[in-house]
Amino acid sequence: MNFVCFLSIYILVSLTTIRAKWTDTFSSLYSGISSSISYVPCKFTECCNDDYISPNIDKLDDLFNTEVFGQQIAHRVIINALRGHLTWSDPPKALAMSFHGPPGTGKTYVAQMIAKSFYKQGQQSNFYHCFNGRNDFPLQQDVELYKEELRKVITESLKKCERSIFVFDEVDKMPEGLLNVLVPFLDYNTRLKTLRLYGTSLNTRKAVYIFLSNTGSTRIIQRLLALWEKGEHRSKTQLEDFEHLISVGAFNEKGGLHHSDTIHTSLIDHYVPFLPLEEAHVKKCINKSFTNRNVLPTENMIQEALSYVMFGPSPHNLYAIAGCKRVEQKVAAIIYSQRKQTENNEL
Ligand SMILES: Nc1ncnc2c1ncn2[C@@H]1O[C@H](COP(=O)(O)OP(=O)(O)O)[C@@H](O)[C@H]1O
Ligand SMILES: [Mg+2]
Repeated sequence: MNFVCFLSIYILVSLTTIRAKWTDTFSSLYSGISSSISYVPCKFTECCNDDYISPNIDKLDDLFNTEVFGQQIAHRVIINALRGHLTWSDPPKALAMSFHGPPGTGKTYVAQMIAKSFYKQGQQSNFYHCFNGRNDFPLQQDVELYKEELRKVITESLKKCERSIFVFDEVDKMPEGLLNVLVPFLDYNTRLKTLRLYGTSLNTRKAVYIFLSNTGSTRIIQRLLALWEKGEHRSKTQLEDFEHLISVGAFNEKGGLHHSDTIHTSLIDHYVPFLPLEEAHVKKCINKSFTNRNVLPTENMIQEALSYVMFGPSPHNLYAIAGCKRVEQKVAAIIYSQRKQTENNEL
């Protein structure tokens, strides 16, 4: 090999090495800059990352133990369902749970606790969406419009974050047929495993959908009473005692799930019964309300709060008709009137 040939090979090799080094340096510099660029806004606004979303089911379990009274079945079913869904790195479908039970038994309260245990910003998270049947979708004749709006909101949210939670409160007040729009979002998507909409590929399978309603309440109460009459203690009741009962009720009673495709195609994974609350549970709610306001209640104060709570159905009158609803307000009023009385006595 003559000298000129050797020199040209040497120059070529050197240039290639320099170029490769530059490319490396440039790309690491670029990725450093771009990760800082995406990091900086996430310092100030919520992003779909582990800093903001870290579902903590142990924390939810603790909250159930300390803050929720008389809902052992719901406790068990919800914790198991969420653990099952979250431990799957690629779940086969979105998780869909339907909470059923009389008013004031903790359905909305528990949905809010789930948000707290998922998102750093709890209910305020941009990835937590709560729709109310009565307020957001009041008119049956506008159902097609609502469907389009709902499809858009869900698609946009899933585009931003796969771990979104959608809560539909007062499902029984929603126009019939509206929730059929959810079928592609809840489905197994067996073929594509993604939903192609607006030219974007969406993973629909990591989301959680929660439906809340009073449908099935009468059946839940009747079944619980029948078990009580047979001497079976509430704490011994099982999901199987209620699940079929409420899925049938949800399908047949009027409202959002009435004859819906969502139920027809078995896209709801868990029907969760919320049992009517007894006097002992309502007393716990009353005590908690006083404690939250840093007041140690006397027995008289508890009895006064309890006197506003109606019980039924007759003849046994075992269950609070509106559960723990309005207990907070009654307790606040009692504390206020006690203070006023003390002030007047001091004058
Ligand atoms: N099982 C329960 N345990 C403890 N507190 C409860 C329970 N059920 C209801 N509450 C209290 O009553 C309030 C109203 O309950 P909520 O969850 O709105 O009832 P609903 O079942 O009608 O959605 C809650 O914010 C909570 O303070
Ligand atoms: Mg509610």
